[in-house]
Amino acid sequence: MADHDLLRLSNQLVAEAQADAGAVARGAGPLFQQSSAQRIDDLIRVLKFHEHRYYVLDDPLVTDREYDALYRQLLRLEEAHTRLVRSDSPSQRVGSDLTTNFSTVAHLVPMLSLANSYDLEDLRDWAASVRRYLKVEPDAPLTFAVEPKYDGGSVALVYEGDMLVRGATRGNGAEGEEITNNLRTLPSVPLKAAFSSLGMQRVELRGEALIRKDRFAALNAERTELNRVAREARGADAPQQSLFANPRNAATGALRMKDPRETAARKLDAFVYSLGYGVDAAGQDRVLALGSHFAAVEALGRLGFLIPGEYMRRCETIEAVASFCESMQAQRDELPYELDGMVVKVDDLALQARLGNTSHHPRWAIAFKFAAQQATSTLEQVDFQVGKIGSVTPVARITPVALAGVTVSNVSLHNEDFIRDKDIRLGDKILVERAGDVIPYIVKSLPEYRDGTQAEVRWPERCPECAEPIVRPVGEARWLCINNDCPAQVIARLIHHVSKDAMDIDGLGEKQLVRFRENGFITGLPDIYRLPYERISALEGFKERSIEKLKAAIETAKGNPIQRFLYSLSIHHVGRTASKMLAEQVTDVRELAEWPPERYLALHGMGQTVADNMMAWWALEHNRRMMDELATLGVNMRQTEEDKPMVPNADGPFAGKTILFTGTLTTIGRKEAQGLAEAAGARNVSGISAKLDILVAGEKAGSKLKKAEALGTVAVMTEEEFLARVRT
Ligand code: IVH
Repeated sequence: MADHDLLRLSNQLVAEAQADAGAVARGAGPLFQQSSAQRIDDLIRVLKFHEHRYYVLDDPLVTDREYDALYRQLLRLEEAHTRLVRSDSPSQRVGSDLTTNFSTVAHLVPMLSLANSYDLEDLRDWAASVRRYLKVEPDAPLTFAVEPKYDGGSVALVYEGDMLVRGATRGNGAEGEEITNNLRTLPSVPLKAAFSSLGMQRVELRGEALIRKDRFAALNAERTELNRVAREARGADAPQQSLFANPRNAATGALRMKDPRETAARKLDAFVYSLGYGVDAAGQDRVLALGSHFAAVEALGRLGFLIPGEYMRRCETIEAVASFCESMQAQRDELPYELDGMVVKVDDLALQARLGNTSHHPRWAIAFKFAAQQATSTLEQVDFQVGKIGSVTPVARITPVALAGVTVSNVSLHNEDFIRDKDIRLGDKILVERAGDVIPYIVKSLPEYRDGTQAEVRWPERCPECAEPIVRPVGEARWLCINNDCPAQVIARLIHHVSKDAMDIDGLGEKQLVRFRENGFITGLPDIYRLPYERISALEGFKERSIEKLKAAIETAKGNPIQRFLYSLSIHHVGRTASKMLAEQVTDVRELAEWPPERYLALHGMGQTVADNMMAWWALEHNRRMMDELATLGVNMRQTEEDKPMVPNADGPFAGKTILFTGTLTTIGRKEAQGLAEAAGARNVSGISAKLDILVAGEKAGSKLKKAEALGTVAVMTEEEFLARVRT
């Protein structure tokens, strides 16, 4: 069967499996008409296809949840018709990472996988099934241990006589690959651990080898840099190292390197999450005596293993479990490691033993999967928006989809090249991703789903707002509407002008600006400073008090320092930093109208782009006229105290030095730190260069720290050291 036919079948089965699960839950019995044998065949065919996409191609076409719906339906059918269980059914094996490179070893206890849950409802069902199995009352007390589900490569470690004797991958669950020498390079895997203090002579531990997110980013940055250098030296044909798709791949790959030094170089950590087997010299079990899973993991922590620590909890109710899981989900992006969920375990080890396992997962544990960071949706329409400097941006309207806890229906498509490079077409199924507070983006289109009705995205020839022709400047990816009076640009500029970091006019926001414009009170910036308050008071919702407040806010704004004013003008590439630097140089903003390009370029850190854009802006007669108009209306044009450069503190501890902060500072904010540095005589700069003297590295410092270290001339200090210096 061709891929697209399999996909069509898959879509139909997913929809039916979900409806069917609902019907079974309501006690209505299965909904579908097909014979069970035929249905099992279809499910197996589709599940195998998805497994291949997921495990082999690393390019899944369905979400975990959809896969699970199919898988669960297969299990239900197989349970009901045991004679229809095929030996090649996905239910008859666990995933495998076996290859021929390493020798294979049998695990002392099989390494199973986990059943999945997605919400409180699923967790409740699971807890109820645990109680039913144990034949206790539905509300009998039960303690759960909850811990992160780390997303890396699972490993099994065997210790004998307190020494690490073997390490293996999970393999097919029964047998794994022997990778002892690689695992020995991980600092978090003790080569020696006092299991004898627990009365244990032979032990098998389970854990997950992982790579920190920042380390992962650094690895990819290193590879990108090496690739660049190789291309520079050898041209387009230079061999290129591919980047890691995600931290999991970087970790599992590292575990299976031929040369242990390469494993070591990736700097993996290994967390342990289970003590599956532990016997004394006579072969008697000594694990059960530890009482609970939680106590067992804590004991491992005391023996020197890395354990989840503050991220593991004991909970007495399933509601408490769910709320802990949700709070972990909310902070997943701040955590140093990638988690794909939490694992909930019956804490009591004796109960775990009674519960035992099904053929593929323990009954005493379940995974709680976090809301997907990726989902598929359909591109319904593309709209074009015009920004404050006239950039025409395509916005995808997609079928609303739940993503990492929010509903996403609009996603930026950036520019024309983005759409073309990713071959995104109207009606396409697309893969959308949203990690944390990062804005959602389209990872790719899924051409496999095309059925011939998809159409190319047509780029507009004219501005969608003012219908004037649009242009694409040479060497740029964006299209511009060059009509300065384009209503979309005018309103966007007005909104920027009054915003917090610009003129900061309280009580005048998008809503009011749009209304004033509709009523003909505002067509350009100067109108803000000559509002017809009489007529505004006739509008609904404008009481005397709010008008008085607005007047006062506008009056205050007129006196703003020119660095704010300059920034408020929406001159392309003239952001806050450039505005401040320019404000330091002039007594009246309008002097800039006469500046030749060389004057911009002479300023440290200012480039050709700012120079070009400033020249172009002042060259327009109507901009010069607008400045004079604003001056007449009382808007401040002259340098204020705030605009003036700080007189460097020549006696400060950092006199004459340049300084840069990177990473997260924990006891003070970045702005405050920069203020302290300035007061101590230093000058803040924005990037690493040979001219940098000091780098203050906060938590999670990444590429900048690496670069500074590589330069070898930069003094690197911690936040604490920095504070100690400036506070003496
Ligand atoms: S318990 C028989 N606990 O998830 C015990 N597994 O989807 C089953 N995993 O193969 C595993 N963190 O590699 C357990 N805290 C944790 C885990 C965890 C990650 C992995 C493990 C397992 C897979 C199952």
